[in-house]
Amino acid sequence: MTDKTAAKKLFIKTYGCQMNVYDSQRMAEAMGAEGYVLTEDQSEADMVLLNTCHIREKAAEKLYSDLGRLKPLKAERPDLKIGVAGCVAQAEGAEIQRRMPLVDLVVGPQAYHRLPAMVRNGGGVDTEFPVEDKFDHLPRPAATRRAPAAFLTVQEGCDKFCAFCVVPYTRGAEVSRPVSRIMAEARDLVARGVREITLLGQNVNGWHGQGEDGEWGFGRLIRALAGIHGLDRIRYTTSHPNDMADDLIEAHRLEPKLMPYLHLPVQSGSDRILRAMNRKHTADEYLRLIDRIRAARPDIMLTSDFIVGFPGETDEDHAATLRLVEEVGFGTAFSFKYSPRPGTPAYDRAEVDSDIADARLQELQALLSRQQKAAQEGMVGRELGVLFEKPGRLPGQMVGKSDYLHAVFVDAPQAKPGDLVRVRITHSAPNSLAGELLG
Ligand code: 5AD
Ligand code: SF4
Repeated sequence: MTDKTAAKKLFIKTYGCQMNVYDSQRMAEAMGAEGYVLTEDQSEADMVLLNTCHIREKAAEKLYSDLGRLKPLKAERPDLKIGVAGCVAQAEGAEIQRRMPLVDLVVGPQAYHRLPAMVRNGGGVDTEFPVEDKFDHLPRPAATRRAPAAFLTVQEGCDKFCAFCVVPYTRGAEVSRPVSRIMAEARDLVARGVREITLLGQNVNGWHGQGEDGEWGFGRLIRALAGIHGLDRIRYTTSHPNDMADDLIEAHRLEPKLMPYLHLPVQSGSDRILRAMNRKHTADEYLRLIDRIRAARPDIMLTSDFIVGFPGETDEDHAATLRLVEEVGFGTAFSFKYSPRPGTPAYDRAEVDSDIADARLQELQALLSRQQKAAQEGMVGRELGVLFEKPGRLPGQMVGKSDYLHAVFVDAPQAKPGDLVRVRITHSAPNSLAGELLG
């Protein structure tokens, strides 16, 4: 039994991308204003919220099996509230409640500001795309201290319509948040101890807005944020190659607070496949863009996303992808087997044989992990910044993220979370680095 005099407990499970991690935090804050506190233990929750992802297949199946597992809990405690949020909620809508009557509410990513009211009213389905900025309607979070690194959503949605992708349908058209709101949220985060902000958006570098001196691009926004005293590191994700404007490349050249790390999905190295995917650039244009970015910031680490087995992909197309990977040299990368998504242009196209796609994925992943290992081992001997996040495994040890997002363990008995230190990297382990404090 739950103690009714205590605060109500909210359990959130987040699937998928960083946008969802940010959205889950904001929903937790919104529900905090309704008297809910987060719990890590689903069995003691008064409300369970599943924040779902729809980018690849089986997401809906995973949701339904997770919901199935909640049945005994709901049977035991009928007043337990169960909510489904995120992109599966958007895509499936009321169908979720038809299949799973135990679900009390279904809320799409554009309707989170109406979540508290829905809970008060006992549930429902809300997958509308409102015109207002949902973040303005979410209550301001309590003035609690934050972890030293935080996310800030500056842009949502996508107008690119890559032939494989559901995002334009689940997250809607591209919308940029206004400069003043972004600056205010960033200042608020910094006032609460945040030293590193990762700017988020499905097409984050497509952000644009009206600054005090006219129309701003994303590079200009980064320069404005870099002016905030106490904010020491800026990152952003995810970008489209066609939106890498000159002012953003210049920001990488000129702005030391902008970390030397760029996630720039290319998906394929074959012009034929890039065209079929509707990516609107060639492999060569991507490579020339990388040249310009590296000329601006020679120590930048590049990461990417790849899809293998896109409809029509031949052995030659796959070889072109491997060549592109060899030529660029990525610090790390995500690679996926193509998964047909209902409602997308590529859905009905003839699929590549599944075993062939599996073999290509293995080959690409082997190459990418060799590059990742080399990039990580190449850090040994280098001097890097590390932002401490928490104590490490050993007494006196701290762990934090390097400029390149590697986890770094450092012996630093005097240090505390939030300290930004200079470190010489001494060892590379499979998933982390070790270093010693400088100065
Ligand atoms: N199949 C496989 N991978 C996909 N991605 C997006 N849609 C699909 C799909 N239908 C991958 C892309 C994208 C990343 C977030 O997910 O590589 O960049
Ligand atoms: Fe999807 Fe393409 Fe938009 Fe990225 S750019 S979110 S892959 S449609």
